[in-house]
Amino acid sequence: MGLQDVKTPIFLRNIWYFALHSRALKSGRLLHKTLLGEPVVFGRTESGEAFALRDLCPHRGVPLSKGKILEGTVECPYHGWRFKPSGQCSHIPSLVGEEGVEPTKISVRKYPLAERNGLIWIYMAEDTQMREPATPAPVLPLAETALPTLIEGQLFPCAIDHAVIGLMDPAHGPFVHKAWWWRSKKSIHAKAKKYAPSHLGFTMVSHKPSSNSTLYKILGGDITTEITFELPGTRVEHIKAGRNDVVGLTTCTPLTENETEVTQTFFWNIGWIAPFKPIAQYVARVFLGQDRNMVTLQQEGLKFNPRLMLIQDADVPAMWYHRLKKEWADAGAAKRPFVNPVTETTLRWRS
Ligand code: FES
Ligand SMILES: [Fe+2]
Repeated sequence: MGLQDVKTPIFLRNIWYFALHSRALKSGRLLHKTLLGEPVVFGRTESGEAFALRDLCPHRGVPLSKGKILEGTVECPYHGWRFKPSGQCSHIPSLVGEEGVEPTKISVRKYPLAERNGLIWIYMAEDTQMREPATPAPVLPLAETALPTLIEGQLFPCAIDHAVIGLMDPAHGPFVHKAWWWRSKKSIHAKAKKYAPSHLGFTMVSHKPSSNSTLYKILGGDITTEITFELPGTRVEHIKAGRNDVVGLTTCTPLTENETEVTQTFFWNIGWIAPFKPIAQYVARVFLGQDRNMVTLQQEGLKFNPRLMLIQDADVPAMWYHRLKKEWADAGAAKRPFVNPVTETTLRWRS
């Protein structure tokens, strides 16, 4: 089956994307970000409320992110119009009061946000007038108070599909991520993993990690790991080692059609790991960099718009991704419930 056999839109709509970390958005500050090709301004009021608006003043198009937060509103730098976190205009300084212009009738697009566990998710609706998201924001298997312990993000110069498929692809490990302390081509062996459908994707059901994953050994105890992928590009790896928990979140957020931000956020409750954090940070940077280098190299070939291949069984997760994406788009267009196309199965490959 070729990649082109399942036609899907570039970006999925009416779904939550990871936007940024809470700590990147300081109180009283504005921050610009292009998401799915749209200009977005993130802000946090003095009272701590995070919000997102279209980063474009409806008056004359100046980016609101170049303005400032004032008394819980965003003030445009050009003529000082002010907008509430709801997007509604609350003040037009030039009005003398006899013009019959009602500021509250003017508004800028507002994007729903969800902030939890130090993560800010944004709902990217199809309908620009949409006020309430149709689905709840992702919830990680974490305590309410858990915050990220390690963050690594890199910009991949590729479309979201290649970033997602590159991360879920089991066969590239021994080639792209070879390192003396991790694995090599010599460590390749046959694997069989059980998969089951999940909410918006699929789960590699809880299993003992393969013996060639030396890093897991460091955690000690009776280790199990469960990996879930969910649309639009969220991978959660939950490692349990006795009483210890490590949750690794990988998100793919499309900035434009050919730029995707890949972010890894880790959460753990293991005190003794703290001194090793610089090593963990280094490892995360190297791993993600290896993936980014490969998709950068891939761009060389993709310029020629080749027909690509997906093979059994190593590329089955990629096939599922395309089917899930198409089903989400089709269900949305037909206004019918999403039906997960993945069925329970065991996949076999060598890696
Ligand atoms: S352009 Fe924003 S207030 Fe005029
Ligand atoms: Fe990788």
